[in-house]
Formats: sequence, C-alpha cells, structure tokens
Amino acid sequence: MRMVSPSLLSADFGNLQHDIEMLNQSECDWLHVDVMDGMFVPNISFGQPVIKFIKKHAQKPLDVHLMIMDPGRYIEDFKASGADIITVHYEACTHLDRTIHAIKDCGLKAGVVLNPHTPVCLLEDIIQECDLVLLMSVNPGFGGQKFIENTYEKVRQLKALCCRKNPNCLIEVDGGVNTANAGKLYECGADVLVAGNAVFKSEDPIETIKQLKK
Ligand code: DX5
Ligand code: ZN
Repeated sequence: MRMVSPSLLSADFGNLQHDIEMLNQSECDWLHVDVMDGMFVPNISFGQPVIKFIKKHAQKPLDVHLMIMDPGRYIEDFKASGADIITVHYEACTHLDRTIHAIKDCGLKAGVVLNPHTPVCLLEDIIQECDLVLLMSVNPGFGGQKFIENTYEKVRQLKALCCRKNPNCLIEVDGGVNTANAGKLYECGADVLVAGNAVFKSEDPIETIKQLKK
C-alpha cells in the first residue's frame, strides 16, 4: 500500500481550517495529529480541544500519534475528540498490551510506535495485536529534522516480522520523510508515510502529496 498522512504539526495554526480543507482536496489518506506532553518529548503541541476542531473539518481519518507518558490514561478522551487511529510509544507504556486492547475496545485502530533506538525485535509479543506499527525516523518532538538512515533496515526487519506473524499490520514511518526518500521506504515495505515539512513548506502541497504516493 502507498499511503500518505500529512502531519498537521507543520500546518499554519493561525489558519488550520484552510490547511485541513486543502488536505481534504488532496490525495492524502489520513491526517497525522501529533500530541506532545513536554515530558515524554521535550516539546508541547496541542490536545483534545484542537483535535475536536480538526475532526469537525477533516474528511479523512485522524491518525493520532501520542507522544505522552502513560497514554492509557487518555484513550477514551482521544476517542471522544475524534481519533480514528491511535498510536502509543513502546517506551511510554508499562502495560502496552493493556493499552493496545483499550484502544481496540473503543473501536479504534491501534498501533505501537518505536523510537529510533528501540529495536524491532521487541515487538515479537505484541505484533499480533497491532493494526499498525509506526517507526520513528527522527527523535520525536519536533518537525523538520533530518531522516535517520538506519530506518530503511528497520522497515525491512519489521516487514519480515509482519509477514511471519501479522501480514495485515501496516508499517508507518514518521520523521524527515520527503520525495527523495519516499520511494525507497515503500520499496523496503512501508505502507504509510508521515510528512510534515515536506508537505507544508513546499510550494504546492497538493502536488507534493501526489509525488509522495508515486
Ligand atoms: C515528530 C512528529 C512528526 C513530525 C514530522 O516528533 O512525530 O510527525 O511532525 O515532521 P517532519 O515530516 O517535518 O519531519
Ligand atoms: Zn508524528
């Protein structure tokens, strides 16, 4: 699959409705929503009130990436705000299996996120429960960072693990994705690419989204 999930972290917060309507018109598949708590990552973004507003205008599923400590505390709140997909960090959950099931019990798609230093093999006993796995290709917290090259190898390893244990699991990649590395990421086995700066800082975001899917 070749899907694109533009990250609203790089959108114009002063005119969010304009950017969401642009995404509605584009070929993008999901809207990526980055929630940061200033604890798990050294930055604070936005929370439920903003997501409710995004939901009101978006015509595509909201792919909510929780960069917060112990995200199990807030699953029902994010469901109520309009999340369709929730991903939680392996590094932020003591009881990851419980949290993944809590997301699925709400009727949402559930995924695990791995930081760049966290090996794919740690997913061995949770992969069967995942609708998707998100591999961070930068250290989370900020948009506009440089892509970490080791990600290609992690995508290949994850693809092999999914083939062995959960062929329906989608592979998503987040951080420093652009039109130069997208093709290779899909070739390695990625299904969904997140792109913030590459989309919103480009001259023609709609065309960039189209290019990212090629
Ligand atoms: C980083 C976020 C990303 C970020 C990606 O912590 O999870 O989703 O917005 O931005 P770019 O594509 O600019 O690296
Ligand atoms: Zn993200």
